Amino acid sequence: MSEILTFLKTIEEEARSAIEKADDKTALDNVAYSYLGRKGKLAEVSRGFGKLDPGIRPRVGSRLNELKKTLNELITQKAGALTSVLESKDVFDYTLPGKRSPVGRRHPLMQTADRMVQIFRGMGFSVATGPDIDTEFINFDALNTPEDHPARDLSDTFYIKKGILLRPHTSTVQVRTMMAQKPPVRIISPGRCYRSDAPDASHSPVFYQCEGLYVDERVTFGDLKGAIIQFARDMFGPGIKVRFRPHFFPFTEPSAEYDFSCMICGGNGCRVCKNSGWLEISGAGMVDPEVFRAVGYDPGKVTGYAFGMGVDRITMLRYRIGDIRLLYENDVRFLRQF
Ligand code: DAH
Repeated sequence: MSEILTFLKTIEEEARSAIEKADDKTALDNVAYSYLGRKGKLAEVSRGFGKLDPGIRPRVGSRLNELKKTLNELITQKAGALTSVLESKDVFDYTLPGKRSPVGRRHPLMQTADRMVQIFRGMGFSVATGPDIDTEFINFDALNTPEDHPARDLSDTFYIKKGILLRPHTSTVQVRTMMAQKPPVRIISPGRCYRSDAPDASHSPVFYQCEGLYVDERVTFGDLKGAIIQFARDMFGPGIKVRFRPHFFPFTEPSAEYDFSCMICGGNGCRVCKNSGWLEISGAGMVDPEVFRAVGYDPGKVTGYAFGMGVDRITMLRYRIGDIRLLYENDVRFLRQF
């Protein structure tokens, strides 16, 4: 065998072992460069091709091409192996973006209820609760509601069986609290209520109310106004105005409905307040002596005020939500915003 072919054989052996030993991409690149590069060993042999004995040239030529091809293949193979080693090993790439796990948060209704509790706690109220399912006595009789009152109607209220129903208001909790403890009483009661209403943008068969009750000697309507005004300012800012309109509830006398000045338009009139500048919030009044009698309080000794408040309504105004149903659909894309 000619000298040159032996030399190529040596180069091949060297190159094979260098490729084998390369244990990262840079080392492999260096091997490729020193054998196959423009100034590499094979290029050097090619450059001397013209000086070779013409008889041997074809054999050397084809051997040279074959060697280039072999080394190229070996290098490509090794590069693939190096990549997959990198991937299969537990290599931590600090440059990859992190994976965020979704974190839950408090529902906007509960955030609002929390804030309401916080505000009323500041005024000396504590939180009382009662069952969602309650008796007709607690829901209506003790609250001085006449037998033929429409709220008792099967079409308005979900009855479980005769005399037992899903409460349509949290006023049940004022009755239960007074039955369980002596005056003075100063409680609020946020909770879920149920009415047989078809769902639309402002109605949901399930909703939340927050009842308030303050009973002591010489509690006045002025105290009631003070508490509601304080609440309105704490919740929506110092510029909010409150107005009371005469109304009727069986469980309070006198009774009122109360409105907040529209915080969307500042009272100038907009779509939300139907151009009136006012938003109806709920009802309130002085506890009716009949309610005191029903729970065993002496109406000659104590007076008190009570109020309702729609948690949904306050939430919708607070976060500018136009449709109450959004609060009950549990669509994460909606809930994520709060
Ligand atoms: N229970 C009434 C309702 O569901 C709200 C309400 C009005 C509660 C007047 C009260 C009150 O305590 O005094 O519409």
